[in-house]
Amino acid sequence: MIGVDMVEIERIKKLIEKNERFIERNFSEKERILFREKANPLQSISANFAGKEAVSKVFGTGIRGFNLNDISIERDDLGKPIVVLYNGALEQARRQRIQRVELSLSHTSEHAIAFAIAIFETT
Ligand SMILES: CC(C)(COP(=O)(O)OP(=O)(O)OC[C@H]1O[C@@H](n2cnc3c(N)ncnc32)[C@H](O)[C@@H]1OP(=O)(O)O)[C@@H](O)C(=O)NCCC(=O)NCCS
Repeated sequence: MIGVDMVEIERIKKLIEKNERFIERNFSEKERILFREKANPLQSISANFAGKEAVSKVFGTGIRGFNLNDISIERDDLGKPIVVLYNGALEQARRQRIQRVELSLSHTSEHAIAFAIAIFETT
C-alpha cells in the first residue's frame, strides 16, 4: 500500500492565520516541539500535514475514523521522518496488519510533498 500527498504552503499559512488552534488541533506535542526547533517552521508544518494525508491514503480511508492528531510525524536523530500512530489511526493500522508506515518528505518554498508506504506484519 502506498500514499502520496502534496500541499501548497500558502494554503497552510492561511489555515494557521485563520484558526489560532490549527496547530494545536492537528499536530502532536512532539511535532510542535519539532516545529519550534526549525528555522523555517511553515515548510515543516506543511510537510508534516502532507505526511498525515499520505499516511491516510496508505490506509485507503483518507482522514476517516481518526484525527490528523492521531498521526504524529516525528524525526529520528538524523532527521528521517518517523510515523507514530495513536488511537483511531493505530487501530486502523492494526486492523490491516500494518506493522509500520515508512515516510519520505520534501519541500520547497511553495510546496511540500510526502510519500508513504505500509510495511506489513509477516506472521
Ligand atoms: C483522501 C484525502 C486525504 C485526499 O486528500 P486531498 O488533499 O483532498 O486531495 P489530493 O489531491 O491530495 O488527493 C486526491 C486523490 O487521493 C486519492 N484518494 C481519494 N480517496 C482516497 C482514499 N480513501 N485512499 C487513498 N487515496 C485516495 C484519489 O486518487 C484522489 O484523486 P482523484 O480525485 O483524481 O481520484 C482527503 O480528501 C480525505 O481525507 N478525505 C476523507 C475524509 C473527508 O472527506 N474529510 C473532509 C476533509 S478533512
